[in-house]
Amino acid sequence: MQIKNIIKKEIIKSLILHGADKNCDPIITTSSDKQTSDYQANGIIGISIKLKKKPKEFAESVIKNMQKIRLISKITISNPCFVNFFINLKFLEKELEKIFLCKRLGIQKQIKKRIVVDYSSPNIAKHMHVGHLRSTVIGDSIVRIMEFLGHDVIRENHIGDWGHQYGMLIAYINKKKIKNIKNINLEKLERYYQKSKKKFDTNNKFKKQSKEILIKMYKNDKKCLSIWKKIVNITLLENEKIYKSLNITLKPIHIKGESFYKDMLKNIILDLKKKKISNFKNGKTIVYLKNFKNKLGNNMGVVIQNSDKTFLYSTIDIACIKYRSKILKADKIIYYVDYRQKRYLKQIFEISKKAKYIHKNLSVKHYEFGTILRKDNKPFMTRNGKLIKLSDIINKSIRKSKSIILKKNVNIDSKRLEKISKIIGIGAIKYFELSKNRKKNYVFEWKKILKLDSNTAIYIQYAYVRIMSIIKRVNIKINEVKNRIIITNDIEKKVALKILQFEDVINEALKKSYPNILCNYLYKLSLNFSKFYEKYYIMSEQNKKIKNSRIKLIFIVAKTIKLGLSLLGIKTVKNI
Ligand code: ARG
Repeated sequence: MQIKNIIKKEIIKSLILHGADKNCDPIITTSSDKQTSDYQANGIIGISIKLKKKPKEFAESVIKNMQKIRLISKITISNPCFVNFFINLKFLEKELEKIFLCKRLGIQKQIKKRIVVDYSSPNIAKHMHVGHLRSTVIGDSIVRIMEFLGHDVIRENHIGDWGHQYGMLIAYINKKKIKNIKNINLEKLERYYQKSKKKFDTNNKFKKQSKEILIKMYKNDKKCLSIWKKIVNITLLENEKIYKSLNITLKPIHIKGESFYKDMLKNIILDLKKKKISNFKNGKTIVYLKNFKNKLGNNMGVVIQNSDKTFLYSTIDIACIKYRSKILKADKIIYYVDYRQKRYLKQIFEISKKAKYIHKNLSVKHYEFGTILRKDNKPFMTRNGKLIKLSDIINKSIRKSKSIILKKNVNIDSKRLEKISKIIGIGAIKYFELSKNRKKNYVFEWKKILKLDSNTAIYIQYAYVRIMSIIKRVNIKINEVKNRIIITNDIEKKVALKILQFEDVINEALKKSYPNILCNYLYKLSLNFSKFYEKYYIMSEQNKKIKNSRIKLIFIVAKTIKLGLSLLGIKTVKNI
């Protein structure tokens, strides 16, 4: 139920009658623990000042002229000028009943849009490292939310599988006469890559050879492309394993890497030339952008073709936008890419707008994220500056979960231990990532990831386990319970109100592309359940009506947790 929206709409209607702008924002919030009301409008004071009216009188008149809405039982004003809303208990109980019966927990779908989401996008000939965690995990969660809300989502794994790196890698493989490339493992391939890079940077002859190979690749030279394909496959096979163990929805069919666009690049250059967007200077094709200045204060140039006629990362991204807009007919394109590419992507968007590849009904957004740090605030690498492989982190987390589970249940059979520790271990790293503000850097601390008493996946998964075990122990068929839900105390009301916030929370998490909004919500919901469980009887409640009502209520909490975690790509277990 979108309570916030309903209240907002109604109060805005009245605000407009009082001279406010139709786009004004009354700032509806859910009340904090200290307040007694259920919802609050905090923006009335600002609006009244703008209209040069006395805040309190203004607020009084605004609420007097608000239409009666069923879900509100009382509206009050508190100092200096906050408007407080109290939710009608009977209404709350009825809504819970509806949610209880509904698979989607009463959550409505949005107007369907076609949304292309560019995420994960690792590079070839390298292991996926901790830096890929953010784009992969955040992107995948938002994609799940979009699909749940009814959108037509096109996942795109824009892997870095083209460009001069492959020229140099193949030149190296040729030079060293390396055979049986298919059987090389990624470890070795990564070493070849590093060695070839060193050679490329120091040896001009090798550099020339590498460039020649890239040109051959553009000309579809069979021999070069066959080596290239093998290199790509070695990497993809490893990445596939990571996606699988991390429970990421990206599949091989979602791979549309840089190489996919290679035959479109010539036309992009011609088109930008024809549209007088690009310039030709010292053999290079460059687009100068007014809004971007370089250090000298001159218009910044984005090179889109080198003097040797090869193309760049930028040319591919421009072609890619054209493809997503004209062929895929996207309504929206979203990029989950590191903040360091912010300026670059802005330039690409600007060029694409000029070329009319981005039309006015297409929204293109870059959702950036910060860096994962070590405790000493340095980027999360090994002490000798090596990137930490994602697979190492996954394995470590599973190992740690195993020992936690064994402490709780020494008799667990080994198969189940394997299964559960995977769910807990993977959930822990994903949740730790998702619960952080995407835009900020964060410190990766093993100590905090699997804590049982704070905002972690295991805390929420554990609340779910407790509820499921209560339901199992009371031994009733939950769907056959005839008693209706009745709210008998304040904590129960808090739990109920939290449940009803779920739809607002999902919508907000998607709108801002902040999965941490959903994480915080699930944590609070679990906390409220625990408080309720500590203070009131459920299993041993004597009054059958109350007992059944409480069981229904906690069952909805469990359903909400399960759905919420699944939107984060995290699994639940029934018992530990
Ligand atoms: N492969 C790039 C990297 O690892 C990310 C690609 C992002 N997507 C894009 N369309 N440029 O930095």
